[in-house]
Amino acid sequence: MKCILSLMSILVSMLFVPSLIVFIAADTSSTSQFVSLSYGKNITSPSGTFEIGFFHLGNPNRSYLAIRYKCCPDQTFVWVANDGKPVNDSSAMLRLNTSSGSLVLTYNNLNWSTSSPNVANIYNPVAELLDTGNLVIRERQKPKPEVEEEEYIWQSFDHPSNTMLARMKIGWDLKRNLNRSLVAWKSDEDPTPGDITWGIVLHPYPEMIMMKGTHKYHRLGPWNGLRFSGMPEMRPNPVFNYTFVSTKDEIYYMWTLQANLITKVVLNQSNEERPRYVWSEVDKIWNFYSTMPGEHCDHYAFCGANSFCSSTASPMCECLKGYKPKSLEKWKSMVWTEGCVLKHQLSCMNDGFAPVDDLKVPDTKNTSVDETIDLDECKKKCLNDCSCMAYTNSDISGSGSGCVMWFGELIDIKLYEASGSGQRLYIRLHPSELDSIRHKKSKTILIISVAATIGVILAIYFIYRRKIYEKSKEENNYENYVDDLDLPLLDLSIIIAATKNFSDENKIGEGGFGPVYRGKLASGLEIAVKRLSKSSNQGMSEFVNEVKLIAKVQHRNLVKLFGCCIQKQEKMLVYEYMTNGSLDYFIFDSTKGKLLDWPKRFRIICGIARGLMYLHQDSRLRIVHRDVKASNVLLDDTLNPKISDFGMAKTFRGEDIEGSTERIVGTFGYMAPEYAFDGQFSVKSDVFSFGVLLMEIICGKKSRFYRGKQVHNLVDQVWTLWKNDMALQMVDPNMEDSVVACEVLRCIHIGLFCVQQYAEDRPTMTSVVLMLGSEMELDEPKNPGIFKKKESNEANSSSRSSMNAMSITSLTAR
Ligand SMILES: *[C@@H]1O[C@H](CO)[C@@H](O)[C@H](O)[C@H]1NC(C)=O
Ligand SMILES: *[C@@H]1O[C@H](CO)[C@@H](O)[C@H](O)[C@H]1NC(C)=O
Repeated sequence: MKCILSLMSILVSMLFVPSLIVFIAADTSSTSQFVSLSYGKNITSPSGTFEIGFFHLGNPNRSYLAIRYKCCPDQTFVWVANDGKPVNDSSAMLRLNTSSGSLVLTYNNLNWSTSSPNVANIYNPVAELLDTGNLVIRERQKPKPEVEEEEYIWQSFDHPSNTMLARMKIGWDLKRNLNRSLVAWKSDEDPTPGDITWGIVLHPYPEMIMMKGTHKYHRLGPWNGLRFSGMPEMRPNPVFNYTFVSTKDEIYYMWTLQANLITKVVLNQSNEERPRYVWSEVDKIWNFYSTMPGEHCDHYAFCGANSFCSSTASPMCECLKGYKPKSLEKWKSMVWTEGCVLKHQLSCMNDGFAPVDDLKVPDTKNTSVDETIDLDECKKKCLNDCSCMAYTNSDISGSGSGCVMWFGELIDIKLYEASGSGQRLYIRLHPSELDSIRHKKSKTILIISVAATIGVILAIYFIYRRKIYEKSKEENNYENYVDDLDLPLLDLSIIIAATKNFSDENKIGEGGFGPVYRGKLASGLEIAVKRLSKSSNQGMSEFVNEVKLIAKVQHRNLVKLFGCCIQKQEKMLVYEYMTNGSLDYFIFDSTKGKLLDWPKRFRIICGIARGLMYLHQDSRLRIVHRDVKASNVLLDDTLNPKISDFGMAKTFRGEDIEGSTERIVGTFGYMAPEYAFDGQFSVKSDVFSFGVLLMEIICGKKSRFYRGKQVHNLVDQVWTLWKNDMALQMVDPNMEDSVVACEVLRCIHIGLFCVQQYAEDRPTMTSVVLMLGSEMELDEPKNPGIFKKKESNEANSSSRSSMNAMSITSLTAR
């Protein structure tokens, strides 16, 4: 059975199959051209991709003159006329005034019309809806151009709504002083303009900016010859071809399709994002493809001036070299907006420059560009101007060319984790900062040679000192331990203000280690605060050590730790807030479950697998989670899953770490037999729990569920049906419409591998990720490890089960 699983390969494969959409072969002159359009009549583009007519957008009492995709049942509108005002009149009519060459919409005794061109004589004009979704007015007898480069009398592409389509230019026609930008609709049903716009801002080094009202909200940054500086994923690919044109006449961004694909980029007011969707002809839905801003660091000036933001670092904000926080106190409590200031007044001509790699370059408002000089000359030019704070190549294609210089504060810099994603920026530094770079090197050499001779003496001395120190340390005097905590240490008062004094209204859950509260910092950043129960008998130094370690574990499928708070016996962890709550809230709920179709669930399964693989394999800690379950998987606003509570089991239940134990952390129903039975845990017991969770996601049922009064074991049921080739019967009816049978079966197959009775038979998470993303042949799974609880009145709720209450059963194939 061949079955392509990864979403990208689904997408790419779609592109090369001869188009699945049956295009209507049409007589171009009759169907798509018109001089009038009345209420209730639609005009279709030549091959049937788009149509224009009077439509309502959800509320039948409000109709609009709009263009929409004809293919796709929902949310297909790409343009509205009349500034989004409704046209509630069945006598509404769109007519072409053939003497002025403009389209006039008449309704309720009101008028809206397209602008008239500055042309003296227009001969026999006609309106036409093109296959690109562009509504144009042109002179009839002119031959229709192959490529749409013709000067139309008027075109809707010059007046974009909230949607960007292929071949549409976003940016400036400088000859006509025309700025084409996307404007969000107030809501999906109300297309009047909202306050989010997206377009090109004519800085000396022009850049793509999303505005919220009059404030900058997100920068894609300037075009650097290869891509937008803030969009590393924009690379040559077989699907999209990106173009940026900057001449004295026009500056615009455009993309075209190299494959047959239905796609759109929509500016969305309600979530303040700019997602791209791709239509899936198989599933009949718009698949979410990517979005901007995608993370905190994409929000304009998130870290204030003269700093950079790194979404995988902790803390996320750091001052540029040579700069220090303007207010150290605020900086430490995660209020970064004030940014950083120079450590030393610059000395101008004696200054130097330090290269910093992998950046999104700063806001280009105060820049100057010289395309004719190279990097050496650029450096000289910048050095000679005492207000020039940074420079780099304006074009990084090839070996780089041109010069761009920044003046004043450096704002909105992002550091990319993957090298090669960002670009190099040369930052002006005081000579003493440069000296410290040189001195460090010689110091290192000195230290090494000294250490070689007196290392032994030092070692003895430190061991001796440490003993004295340990004796004298006071358990709750945390200041001794947090000095080098690489993580913001928040003041209790800040947490109290953010969570409204831990009010019930802000409480969002009760984890194994204490309650969790939602909160909002003064800077607007939303957080989740885990207040560890005071009964935890862990010492302060261990706590700090563990937090330090967790802070270093960073992955896009793990919930991010922002900081912590230690004060007056209180220990709190501050995490990023996840808008969509936990996975159990979706999959075990018959209404919410409908929001997660198969492609979404598959993405979630893959995300969890990658997060666990990182914990097991790639992080410096090799963490065994020990409590993998649906309620420990949180979903962000794009439904990207993130595992929470990792490291907690290891760290906050120190007494449980060794081998067998009476108290078993974990949740009944997810526990591997060797763990439940012997208290032995390993990465393979996490793999078991993952297998159970995978089946829950597919079946929409808890690992132990009721049918009538009887408790059933999900793994048991799936295994039995699998053996009889009937596993699909278990699939959650909530996602029936979107299920791709071969994919689901493959996932169940992988899940059964994970829950095999013997730990050594189970795959590692690395193999699980590989199996999920490929088509490789899979062996037959062996019997799952299933254990049954004697008293069956409790389904999957408590942690800490006692061994005595359980017995282990291994099922054999029937
Ligand atoms: C058509 O446009 C011309 C020139 O602007 C104008 O004088 C005329 O009244 C318009 N005709 C109609 C029917 O609106
Ligand atoms: C905008 O985002 C909201 C919330 O995510 C979503 O419900 C809505 O359908 C989106 N609108 C468009 C036009 O994509």
